[in-house]
Amino acid sequence: MIDQRSLERVATLTAPAAAFTQTTRINANGLLADRLGRPLHDLRISVTDRCNFRCSYCMPKEVFDKDYAYLPHGSLLSFEEITRVARLFAVHGVRKIRLTGGEPLLRKNLEVLIEQLAALRTVDGQPLDLTLTTNGSLLARKARALKAAGLNRVTVSLDGLDDAVFRRMNDVDFPVADVLAGIEAARAAGLGQDGKGGGLKVNMVVKRGTNEQEILPMVRHFKGTGIVLRFIEYMDVGATNGWRMDEVLPSAEVVQLIHAEHPLIQLDPTVAGETAERWGFADAAGRHDKTAGEIGVISSVTQAFCHDCNRARLSTEGKLYLCLFATQGHDLRSLIRTGSSDADIESAIGHIWQGRRDRYSELRSTMGPDTTTLAPGQRRVEMSYIGG
Ligand code: GTP
Ligand code: 5AD
Ligand code: SF4
Ligand code: SF4
Repeated sequence: MIDQRSLERVATLTAPAAAFTQTTRINANGLLADRLGRPLHDLRISVTDRCNFRCSYCMPKEVFDKDYAYLPHGSLLSFEEITRVARLFAVHGVRKIRLTGGEPLLRKNLEVLIEQLAALRTVDGQPLDLTLTTNGSLLARKARALKAAGLNRVTVSLDGLDDAVFRRMNDVDFPVADVLAGIEAARAAGLGQDGKGGGLKVNMVVKRGTNEQEILPMVRHFKGTGIVLRFIEYMDVGATNGWRMDEVLPSAEVVQLIHAEHPLIQLDPTVAGETAERWGFADAAGRHDKTAGEIGVISSVTQAFCHDCNRARLSTEGKLYLCLFATQGHDLRSLIRTGSSDADIESAIGHIWQGRRDRYSELRSTMGPDTTTLAPGQRRVEMSYIGG
C-alpha cells in the first residue's frame, strides 16, 4: 500500500523561496538574526530520507514499509548543490554542519561530500565544525574513510546495551555488538578528538516502559571512556510515531536516577544555544571528576530550549526548515535549479531566517501538543526527512 501521508507530504510542504529574490537584497555579514533575535549558527543537512533501522519513535514499520514513497534520486540535492548551499549559509554565520538522515552513511560516496564541506570556512576563516549523526551500523566499515575525508566527530544513536532490547527498538533485529564495534572504530579512527573539546557522543532516546532499565547500564558502560552519553526525551516529532506524554521520562527523573548511583554536579554550558544540559560525575569532594567525564540530558518536552535555538535544517530535497516541528519548508532547490546567483540565494536565506519566529517546544509547554502550530490539514514533517 502506498502511504497516503507521504504523498501529502510532497504536496503540502513547499513555500516558494523565489519570492525573496525579488525583494530588498540582504547581503550576508555573518550577523543574521531572526524575529526573536536568534543567530544562525548550526546547519543540519539531511542527505537521505532512508534508513536501515525502523525505530518506532522515528520510522515505525507500519508506515515505513516496502511501499513507502521515498524520494527519487533526482529529487535529492547533489553533493555540489549541498556544498554550494552550505557555503552560502556559512557566509551568514553558520559554524557547525551536521549531516543527518535517515541514516547518512547510506548515501553513496558520502566521503566525497565531506571532503567538499571540509574545505568551507566560517566568516572568520575557520574550518567548520563538521559532524554526523549515525545509527552506527556502518561505522565500523566507514570510520577511517570519514576521518580521512575531514569529518571532525560523530554522534552515534544507541538506545540500550541489552541485545534483546536494542533489537526490539531498532525493529530490524540489528545486534548491539555491531554498533559498539562501530563506536570503537570511530574512536580508533580519531573521530573522538575534534581538537575543540567536542568528541564522540552517544545519544539515547528514552521511552518510559521500553528502555528506561537501560539507563544505568549505559552510564556504567560509558563512564570514564571520554564518550559523552546523552539522554533524549522522546518527542512528538513527525506525524507517525503515536507519541504519548506518558511515554516520556522527564530528564529530571533520569538525572535523579543516575545521581543516586553516580553523584552528579551540573556543569556550565559550553556554547550558547546548546541542546543538552551537562552534568559531570562528581569526585568524593563533590567536584567534577574530569577523568570520569560527563553526561547530558536533552529535554525538549519538559524544558524547551527554543529561546536560543540557532539551528536551520536542510531537507534531503533542498527545502529549508526553520524548526524540527515545522509543517512547511522553503524550497531552495528550485532557486538552485533555475539558475539563481549566489547573491540571490544568499539573500533568500537571509530573508527566510529574518522572518523566523518558530518556537514549537515552548508553545507546546504552555498550550499542549498539536494545538499550537497545526492548522486543519497540516501535518508535521518526519524527522527521517528533515534530520534530527
Ligand atoms: P552537539 O554539537 O554534538 O552538541 O550536537 P547537538 O546536541 O546540537 O545535536 P544532536 O544531533 O546530537 O542532537 C541530539 C538530539 O537532540 C536530536 O537527535 C534531537 O532529538 C534533539 N534535538 C536536536 N536539535 C533539536 C532542536 O532544535 N529542537 C528539538 N526539539 N530537539 C532537538
Ligand atoms: N524523539 C526524540 N529523538 C528522536 N530522534 C528521532 N526521533 C525522535 C523522537 N521521536 C533522534 C534521536 C536519534 C536521532 C537520529 O534522531 O536522537 O538518535
Ligand atoms: Fe533510523 Fe535514526 Fe530514525 Fe532510528 S532514529 S529509524 S536509526 S534515522
Ligand atoms: Fe528549535 Fe523548533 Fe526545537 Fe524549538 S522546537 S529548539 S525552535 S527546532
